[in-house]
Amino acid sequence: MTGTAPPEGSPVEDWATDFDHTTSAWAADATDIWDDLRERCPVAHSDRFGGTWLPTRHEDISAIAHDTEHFTSQGVIVAPFKPVGLAPVGYAPPITSDPPFHEFARRILLPAFSPKAVAPLEESTRAFCASLMDQVVAAGPLVDASVDYAEHIPVRVIAQMLGVPESDGDRFRGFIHRILEKPGQVAPPEDEGTLINYLEHIIEEHREDPRDDLIGYLLDYRVDGEPLAPEHIDGTIALTLLAGIDTTWSAIGASLWHLARHPDDRRRLIEEPELMTFAVEEFLRFYAPVTMARMVSSEVEIGGCPMAVDDWVLLPFPAANRDPEAFEAADEFVIDRERNRHAAFGLGIHRCLGSNLARMELRVAIEEWLARVPDFELADPDAVRWSSGQVRGPRELPVRIVGG
Ligand code: HEM
Repeated sequence: MTGTAPPEGSPVEDWATDFDHTTSAWAADATDIWDDLRERCPVAHSDRFGGTWLPTRHEDISAIAHDTEHFTSQGVIVAPFKPVGLAPVGYAPPITSDPPFHEFARRILLPAFSPKAVAPLEESTRAFCASLMDQVVAAGPLVDASVDYAEHIPVRVIAQMLGVPESDGDRFRGFIHRILEKPGQVAPPEDEGTLINYLEHIIEEHREDPRDDLIGYLLDYRVDGEPLAPEHIDGTIALTLLAGIDTTWSAIGASLWHLARHPDDRRRLIEEPELMTFAVEEFLRFYAPVTMARMVSSEVEIGGCPMAVDDWVLLPFPAANRDPEAFEAADEFVIDRERNRHAAFGLGIHRCLGSNLARMELRVAIEEWLARVPDFELADPDAVRWSSGQVRGPRELPVRIVGG
């Protein structure tokens, strides 16, 4: 399917034939768009970004995520520039890697993200959330649950894991904004520098002063006595920096957005803390933040649609989570949902390596918020701003603390 792409950022007329996931209209209404498409055009297409497909049924999304024969991960962020010729390693292993290299790159990281490695981070995460809540309560009653709270938490945790200064958080968020929210806009503001310069700098510091953190671990890693290739180390560090921040920030923000609007769910979480395990999974299902992409590596048909080599394919895991064929009462938030095999962390070989860490951060962030601010509401529903692009969550979330 070919055609002339409309100018970048121009308004979308029909989401079935001309969608654009980087627009503010998508950011505001993504859930309705997926539900509508699933009914009338389950595999949508757009000529934008050089040709992109958008499946919205769980079945199709799962089939593509499991099919590493016809789809490659060398491109996972849809952008006008197509990264071709990089398989099987890609620029950020393991997320951009294909078999057989993928398994090698993934296995290196497994120990760093195991439940045993994550558990010791809970105490400092909780202490940090509590200190942020001191500031939130002091600044109240009008605060921004995203800007004053959610956005700071994952940055701090990742900085601690990697062994980089916690004060670099704003720079991380600058890199993320450029790479994930505004693909194609490459020139950074002068003072921010590029992610590549930043990585060179922190790796150099670690070489000069070896430390017991994730960067130190990757620098020390040996395969038959040989260190990992420098591009592999750079790419993996960049990935950990990017993959763990706005994803978790979005999940925390969306959960607080939900709780601001549902006093019954707030009350139940406070009165029945044992519900938290189920609630965390339901927050992840209902407000799944991450849509990944693939590129077609050999011709294939999905849902009756012929896909050509190098076409982009978005994998909206959040849309899979709302498919009534896959979940009972898919469009209802059920805080104590017991059967919940959601796809928020992906499906297939690339399933999220940081899921233990993300779950811990989400649980602790909500617990500490509710412990200090059990009652709150949206200050102005129209002022809530959701991010566009492939990671979706509230970036501005003004709330009013009630009582207190
Ligand atoms: C709520 C928070 C998070 C969500 C929803 C999420 C979601 C995802 C998804 C959907 C994938 C699959 C990508 C694909 O199929 O192409 C993925 C992969 C990955 N995530 Fe997460 N993620 C979260 C937090 C984190 C954190 C905190 C980290 C740690 C730094 C992390 C590290 C990774 C890595 C390394 C991969 C690549 C795994 C592979 O390719 O084998 N994520 N994540």
